[in-house]
Amino acid sequence: MLFAELNRGKCKTYLVACEKTRRAALIDPLKEKVDRYLAYLAYRGLTLEYAIDTHTHADHLTGAGELRYLTGAKIIMHRRAPAPNVEIHVKDNDRIAVGELNLTVLATPGHTPDGISLHVDDRVFTGDTLLIHGTGRADFAGGDAGLQYDSITKKLFALPDATLVFPAHDYRGNTSSTIGDEKRSNPRLQDKTREQYVELMNNLGLSLPEKIQEVLQPNQTAVDDDRMHFPSLAELNLVRTLTPKEVQTLVGCSAPPLVLDVRELEEYVGELGHIAGSVLIPLKDLSTRCAEIGSFKERQVIAVCRAGVRSATAAALLTALGFERVYNLKGGMLDWNDAGLPTEK
Ligand SMILES: [Fe+2]
Repeated sequence: MLFAELNRGKCKTYLVACEKTRRAALIDPLKEKVDRYLAYLAYRGLTLEYAIDTHTHADHLTGAGELRYLTGAKIIMHRRAPAPNVEIHVKDNDRIAVGELNLTVLATPGHTPDGISLHVDDRVFTGDTLLIHGTGRADFAGGDAGLQYDSITKKLFALPDATLVFPAHDYRGNTSSTIGDEKRSNPRLQDKTREQYVELMNNLGLSLPEKIQEVLQPNQTAVDDDRMHFPSLAELNLVRTLTPKEVQTLVGCSAPPLVLDVRELEEYVGELGHIAGSVLIPLKDLSTRCAEIGSFKERQVIAVCRAGVRSATAAALLTALGFERVYNLKGGMLDWNDAGLPTEK
């Protein structure tokens, strides 16, 4: 296996490649360093097959979209990832073949709902679930400290003690650790019950990452357009949500709401299908096309997407544009399908 950390900074990007076939994958690439990655790949005679994000990042713009555009590499993320440009959605225990290398996906939610770790040979890439002598925060973007505790103690700590740990971030100049070392001396976890861990993580009192909205929403939506005006966190926090069951009841009424699907056309007709009667306007076009749904300014509008994240952005945008009764389908078409509700394709 060829292996390298390419950034030499606090955000870590790892390259893993098959020596024999020269096939490579980049884990957590940064947009600002795509040129550097391409130069490295060319210099080493490697072909980039996959750009993998361990989760939707809140502190840097992902380079996966640029790499896909420039090299044709496929983007891989967990099935809960909200962005529309992910070509391969993975779940727990899936295998990713990179030449003759086999990466095993471990679903490790907690820092975010879409968190994965990748285990290959003697090492594991832990994203921001498990850091070196630390853990990633779990207090925003769908984070859940209890789930994070389970991911670390039940999944990652089940790996052999000698397994090398490579996290997505390190702020103290460390480069790697081992599962055994983290079990023994990670201060966030040592001698802590699940309840104690949740208590600790929910009271860290950290400020939000700098420029979070300028980073998180482009990563969640894959909208890379300076003309797009993303809503503020305060606007997003005001968005009202409905469960799939509640939406189904409303759709069956005599005066049904407008179900506005903000995904891309490929998704609308793709594996998750769409809600019968829904209108498709992709998020990136919503501001310019909202006149098409102008007759619903005073009526109920329910925004829908894959995971309920892009649709929250859409709901906040529509509210700012004067739509008075906008709701968000919680968990999007993923939860709609998981609830066994009917879809059209
Ligand atoms: Fe993160």
